[in-house]
Amino acid sequence: AARVVVLVSGTGSNLQALIDAATDPAYGVQVVAVGADRHGARALERAVRHGIPTFVCRVPDHRDRQAWDAALAEQIGAHTPDLVVSAGFMKILGEAVLSAHTVVNTHPALLPAFPGAHAVADALAYGVRVTGCTAHLVDSGVDTGPILEQVAVPVEDGDTPESLHERIKTVERSMLVDVVGRLARHGHTLTDRKVTIP
Ligand code: GAR
Repeated sequence: AARVVVLVSGTGSNLQALIDAATDPAYGVQVVAVGADRHGARALERAVRHGIPTFVCRVPDHRDRQAWDAALAEQIGAHTPDLVVSAGFMKILGEAVLSAHTVVNTHPALLPAFPGAHAVADALAYGVRVTGCTAHLVDSGVDTGPILEQVAVPVEDGDTPESLHERIKTVERSMLVDVVGRLARHGHTLTDRKVTIP
């Protein structure tokens, strides 16, 4: 199975979906570690409950962003992953991590619309009638990397950022499980932003 390190900051429902899928050997993924940028993330508790090693790498414990990124790259690298998944990890990754690892991110909007940390609220405030989620490879920009998969989610009358995000997350979890499994089992090639999973 492909060795996968998952990076988290929040509740970890996407992480949970990956852990659940990985109980089937045919899925081809072993979640070998879960890393967070802060203590107390509920996602870390999920990892512990499943006996998965965890680590925490906090920006304020480092002299600057670059030192933090180098330390994070080292902690990820200690688990020799084939793939890194950013699942609700609310930090921009730097060169040290990105040069060493293929990183997949899941984002709660149809990129390139609404990048950044407030995608769902931004989409709602803009008044779009359709939004959704995107799985993409991470590059040095903010949510700019090559797109792997997208799923559309209609906005409903009366939606709040919370209600809309919950509906997005329901389809997002299946999208992420599908994409990560395909990458794990088949790998990928990248030409001019076009990702091919053989
Ligand atoms: C997900 O919707 C993910 O797309 C989003 O955080 C949520 C994490 O949920 N990520 C971002 O907004 C990144 N900019 P989870 O902790 O339950 O998996």
